[in-house]
Amino acid sequence: MTIQIFGLGYIGLPTAAIIAQHGINVHGVDVNPVVVAAINRGEPHIYEPGLSEVLKEGSAYGFLKASHSPIEADVHLIVVPTPFKSNLEPDISFVEAATRSVIPFLKNGDVYILESTSPIGTTEKMAELIFSLRPELKNKISIAYCPERVLPGNVLYELINNDRVIGGIDDQSTNQVVDFYKTFVKGELHKTNCRTAEMCKLTENSSRDVQIAFANELSLICNKAGINVWELIDLANKHPRVNILQPGSGVGGHCIAVDPYFIVAAYPNESRLIGTAREINNYKAFWCAEKVENARLQFKLTHGRDPIIAMMGLAFKPNIDDLREAPAKFITQKVMQSINNGILVVEPNIKEHDVFKLTEYKEAYKKADIIAYLVAHEEFKSLPYGGKDKVVLDFCGVFKK
Ligand SMILES: NC(=O)c1ccc[n+]([C@@H]2O[C@H](COP(=O)([O-])OP(=O)(O)OC[C@H]3O[C@@H](n4cnc5c(N)ncnc54)[C@H](O)[C@@H]3O)[C@@H](O)[C@H]2O)c1
Repeated sequence: MTIQIFGLGYIGLPTAAIIAQHGINVHGVDVNPVVVAAINRGEPHIYEPGLSEVLKEGSAYGFLKASHSPIEADVHLIVVPTPFKSNLEPDISFVEAATRSVIPFLKNGDVYILESTSPIGTTEKMAELIFSLRPELKNKISIAYCPERVLPGNVLYELINNDRVIGGIDDQSTNQVVDFYKTFVKGELHKTNCRTAEMCKLTENSSRDVQIAFANELSLICNKAGINVWELIDLANKHPRVNILQPGSGVGGHCIAVDPYFIVAAYPNESRLIGTAREINNYKAFWCAEKVENARLQFKLTHGRDPIIAMMGLAFKPNIDDLREAPAKFITQKVMQSINNGILVVEPNIKEHDVFKLTEYKEAYKKADIIAYLVAHEEFKSLPYGGKDKVVLDFCGVFKK
């Protein structure tokens, strides 16, 4: 059996490595020549704990080959990006391009699996595309959607142990794809149809977004009402059936801040709560930037000089180096639009940044008059609260004050 994987990024490459570890030949296809060359040297271009060892000297070695071009294989997995466009519509052009590139290589009995997070109906669209160009394959190949739900940092474990949802364009496809995942997944494999499986992935991330929006909305209300939101949520969560999440400076990352738009774009009238949650979480970042600006003006009025402001954190969540869609980065950019001098940007999880000059967190704390905590990184919790000389804006509950 040969497995062909299109897209060797954060999800495709670990998937390729795990399958290759099972002694199965994997042909990885990526349009990026740097990615292909790095993988063929046994040096992954992404960081994921344990991945380098698996590829270089681990049991995957010799079973995984990367290339720019597709070949004939038995199972074809599509794991390419699905970003959104500037008008907030999903961009499935990468999925379509990968699908078009495999169509000439498909043969009777093959399995085509879409893993990329996709809007409802994408699997059926790809099936239509395949059969429009290769009508003789109708009812001769299996086509299914199987989303990924791994946590970066724990991908190699979760790829094997998480439950998965598998939805075919028909029962035959679902069953055949379940059999394929059985070769390396220990979690339960839940069967459904492709539209439900597509919506399931979008639902998981939209559910998180809505729950965080509730916490963020509470933080806005509490700020106005003079109530400590952290204490409030702690107390409310003592109710046996209440479990409110923690507020922050917004919502970021390439999943929770993106996937709900795939629902909203297609069902704008029906998805009002999901759309509003996106607005609330985006607004929270604007609100934080405004708070910093107000604190600056207040400081200037009181002290007759501009303050030094420390922007603490750039990542989209604590203790990682990933800045994609990060509200902290947005807030920092927004604050820097109106103030050029006296802004110290801190992100302990990266060494340098091409836009921001970074300052070490203890040094920034020492120098700053205003400290805006944008991400609750572990390092920040070791700092003193601020004392009477410093204005502290704790947007993410570092001190829960
Ligand atoms: N990263 C995550 O934590 C995560 C979690 C769940 C789901 N997903 C979803 O998985 C999919 C892939 O995400 P990722 O984080 O691995 O993306 P990525 O950007 O890390 O990797 C995608 C790779 O696909 C390659 N590519 C683009 N077009 C191609 C084509 N036509 N043929 C072959 N290769 C092509 C790119 O060069 C890149 O190396 C997305 O839909 C994403 O939403 C990601």
